[in-house]
Amino acid sequence: MLRFYETKTIADFYVKYRPTFSQEVANVVVNYLKRKRGISEETPVVFDQLIDIACGTGQATSLFAPFFQRVDGIDVSPEMLKQAQHHNAFSHVIYKEGAAEKMPASDHSADLITSAESVHWFDVPIFLEEARRVLKHDGCLAIMGMTFPQVVEPLKLPDGNEYEMGQFASDLFMKCVLGGIYDDVAYNNCLNKYKDIYEAIPSNAKEYYDDLTLHFQWTLEEVVGYIKSVESVQNLLMQKAREFKELGVEITEELLKPFDLSERFRSEVKAAWNVEDIPESEVLIRVEHETFIILVSNFNQ
Ligand SMILES: C[S@@+](CC[C@H](N)C(=O)[O-])C[C@H]1O[C@@H](n2cnc3c(N)ncnc32)[C@H](O)[C@@H]1O
Repeated sequence: MLRFYETKTIADFYVKYRPTFSQEVANVVVNYLKRKRGISEETPVVFDQLIDIACGTGQATSLFAPFFQRVDGIDVSPEMLKQAQHHNAFSHVIYKEGAAEKMPASDHSADLITSAESVHWFDVPIFLEEARRVLKHDGCLAIMGMTFPQVVEPLKLPDGNEYEMGQFASDLFMKCVLGGIYDDVAYNNCLNKYKDIYEAIPSNAKEYYDDLTLHFQWTLEEVVGYIKSVESVQNLLMQKAREFKELGVEITEELLKPFDLSERFRSEVKAAWNVEDIPESEVLIRVEHETFIILVSNFNQ
């Protein structure tokens, strides 16, 4: 089994280039918890304990932190946790090592467990049992995901034709991501927006939302950086590095460059968009991701 997110390289790219969920997404989750507790949406509340499982570099942990008195961000990857600790802006947020299937948390201690962009890596039935153990009797589980960008469209090109060139880049983005080495089950769960995972949750108190879209304006350099942060792209590079090492070949950046799918995206987009002479930080791109949210309550009844 390949272990993802274990390297410093991917943690560095992740913290720099991966987008986070919006305040709107956080509000959907927090309002659900309020609703389940009989609290009106307008009432400001600071709940007791949040566990953000598979917190990675802490983006979603930070988004939810203001709504809780105590927050534990938990992840299996020490490299991702190092980045989370480094960027931690909250004194009440603690990052610790642990697995979704065996959380370092007491029974019935959490008001909310969040899992952002990560449940596809878990042993889901064991994770759900563990969530049942750790959640308070009136606690909730929120599982969030976002698609790879559905739109990667240039804002203004020398030759015009932004819409068609956007379609070219959006398709190329997915070709690059799927051209790497990935886990079929995990990727299929992402591509179907966690619908299979939702269906399999044994609860009659669950809800599914996929009506919020995230909008960003990035530069070409940032889109290339995002692709570098994708585990399938890094896995291919690591696989090639291992093959060269076995052959006794000295590994250099130049040697690996032809296998770096983010470089393929960079060069093909620059040629197709005719922006080879424009600095990448000045090539502006509209990016859209769809989000999907699973909310579950009544775990312990
Ligand atoms: C795509 S990242 C998401 C990070 C973060 N939640 C976010 O939204 O940016 C997936 C994270 O899941 C973690 N992970 C994968 N399997 C895990 C498991 N079984 N238990 C805990 N963490 C896990 C990885 O180490 C990685 O940090």
